[in-house]
Amino acid sequence: MLRSSIKGNPVTTQTPTVADSRTNLRGPVRPLGADDWDAAAADIDAIQRLKREKDAIILAHNYMTQDIFHGVADITGDSLALAREAQHVTQGTIVLAGVHFMAETAKLLNPAKRVLIPDLRAGCSLASSITAADVRALRAQHPGVPVVTYVNTSADVKAESDICCTSGNAVRVIESLGVDRVIMIPDQYLARNVAAQTGVEVIIWPGACEVHEQFTAAEVRALREEHPGVAVLAHPECPPEVVAEADFAGSTAQMSDFVEQRRAQKIALITECSMGDNLAATHPDIEFVSMCRLCPHMKRNTLAKIRTSLETGRHEVTLDPAIAGRARRAVERMLAVR
Ligand code: 13P
Ligand code: SF4
Repeated sequence: MLRSSIKGNPVTTQTPTVADSRTNLRGPVRPLGADDWDAAAADIDAIQRLKREKDAIILAHNYMTQDIFHGVADITGDSLALAREAQHVTQGTIVLAGVHFMAETAKLLNPAKRVLIPDLRAGCSLASSITAADVRALRAQHPGVPVVTYVNTSADVKAESDICCTSGNAVRVIESLGVDRVIMIPDQYLARNVAAQTGVEVIIWPGACEVHEQFTAAEVRALREEHPGVAVLAHPECPPEVVAEADFAGSTAQMSDFVEQRRAQKIALITECSMGDNLAATHPDIEFVSMCRLCPHMKRNTLAKIRTSLETGRHEVTLDPAIAGRARRAVERMLAVR
């Protein structure tokens, strides 16, 4: 029988910076209309031309708005897919339409390429919840216990880690280690959700995604009452009691696969709002029930900023080579897990 247990983290009382995004709970999905596309056309044309001129490619996360996701992205996906694809890019410049840790990961895997992020302020509450010194303190407190680090962290933190994981491969990564205990940082909810699926004891860190931590089990129950028969898909960054109310939990790519496979006619995505918008635009046969929240960091990406980034070469991601080498090992070790 599988065993799972969680140990609270006694090392620090530091809590992550959590912006109040309760006010951004959004209504129905919003596929863009013809007027929206007309308004975006000039930027989209310019970006397509600039990509050719500058030998650039755009990697975009599933939380990008539709004008970016459907209008200019060359490769879209979850954190794992973007990390994998970043390894095979042939162009000289990568524009990462996402958040800073994703651009850093692309740079780690492509040290010789120029990696641009359209807005340097596109951070993440998980990445800002933990430092390299925190990881060293955790190791000192739990000697010999491997550190599994969610990719939603800085290169400094990855450099202190044994292996990285994403929400799409966390269970496989942990099981690949063949140990009884791991330190899993920094998302306490992902760690708890993963622990529930493995026989491994997980020592957690009190970080949280400021978007997903806001969903509640009561909201999901109310949604089901209002929409009988709806299939509820939740991201594993949601609290365990929310995941427990869902029919399926997975990374953004795993949620997309669920939709692609048309496993339900009516679907609620408990995650960031653009996810449902992007899927609704390409799956008009499926009814999407929206219970989403906006990520203020992802939403810093706009067509105008991507265009400026290509025009000016701003903002280039750079890494200290000493840190990058150690961080790269943790990411590559993750990518080797199948
Ligand atoms: P995935 O796309 O890997 O599921 O991650 C979601 C997320 O919150 C990234 O910031
Ligand atoms: Fe970070 Fe959450 Fe935003 Fe993803 S959705 S970038 S985990 S704050």
